[in-house]
Amino acid sequence: MNDLFLRACRREATERTPVWFMRQAGRYQQEYRELRKRYGILDICRTPELAAQVTMLPVEQLGVDAAILFSDIVVPLAAMGIDVRIEEGRGPMVDSPLRSTGDVERLRALEPETDLPFVLDAIRNLVEDLDVPLIGFSGAPFTLASYLVEGGPSRSFARTKALMLGQADTWHALMERLSAAVLAFLRAQIKAGVSAIQVFDSWVGALGPQDYDEFVRPHVRPIFRGLESLGVPRIHFGVGTEGLLTRMRDVGADVVGVDWRVPLDAAWERLGPGVAVQGNLDPATLLAPWEVIERRARDVLDGAGGRSGHVFNLGHGVLPGTPPEALRRLVELVHEVSARERAVP
Ligand code: CP3
Repeated sequence: MNDLFLRACRREATERTPVWFMRQAGRYQQEYRELRKRYGILDICRTPELAAQVTMLPVEQLGVDAAILFSDIVVPLAAMGIDVRIEEGRGPMVDSPLRSTGDVERLRALEPETDLPFVLDAIRNLVEDLDVPLIGFSGAPFTLASYLVEGGPSRSFARTKALMLGQADTWHALMERLSAAVLAFLRAQIKAGVSAIQVFDSWVGALGPQDYDEFVRPHVRPIFRGLESLGVPRIHFGVGTEGLLTRMRDVGADVVGVDWRVPLDAAWERLGPGVAVQGNLDPATLLAPWEVIERRARDVLDGAGGRSGHVFNLGHGVLPGTPPEALRRLVELVHEVSARERAVP
């Protein structure tokens, strides 16, 4: 078993830097595109054999040090009674958005064992076969709420913020339901065998620190606290979160994921030595010639500066159109360069 990733999450010294990629399974892969001609994305998520097969693809092809369960953040929402679909090129769409207390009551409590057996089956199948750790995940309450309230993707999150600031009781009721569901779902994934979890609060960077403290933190903290005793590394990631990094640490993360808008060493300075850091090559770099990719990847490793507890990743998901060969070479480069650094005292 290759446990480099788990050791880095625990900030132990490793002989080289582990690497995996958000969206390491997806449209940039010929095999994935072929499969998607026959199945919808949610069909793949709901069929353990297909989900497991897609999860394995990048592990075999790229040599990454961790697998991430193939699923989507909307899968539990659908199981809670929300009519949600994923539109290609756009993202999750909810035709009847939630904007009142009555609407919030449409959100059923989640019982993962009965509502999402296929996810847990996929995990149980995968941990048998994988020789790298499997990461489970969930969307965080704010990011999930943003899709439920907006009805789809958003730039300004205006409706979400209007609800949050204008109908605080409704907001907190919504976030409480989501928080309970996320905690139950992540606990079930850990029980089924994942050895780390990532909480994607992808869009929380839209908020300032004051709103984070008042409207998000009370609902995220119980998730991280509720997982603490289970002993698996807890990764907390968001986009554009430079101003929220210490807060995302303080809710109880073991690893904070950062995007490329903040230099890795600056993020680490701010976070201090008590937490591992994941990131943060700009995914668009992979569309450039190899020389550029190599230079920028070395910059990320330099930013980590040989500290223990660096998990190399992109600052967000792999973009469609990324050449698989570039990712494969990047994994090799991160392994080689970091191993060489360790060898020099
Ligand atoms: O390999 C992996 O990372 C695991 C699979 C994974 C998917 N979605 C599969 C997927 C993960 C971890 C997610 C999480 C997810 N889904 C997030 C949080 C992470 C992030 O990217 O910030 C969010 C915000 C979503 C919502 C969502 N689902 C979006 C924005 C999209 C893209 C829409 C588009 O067409 O560009 C999806 C669809 C989706 N989920 C794809 C994949 C591989 C796209 C491919 C497809 O439609 O088949």
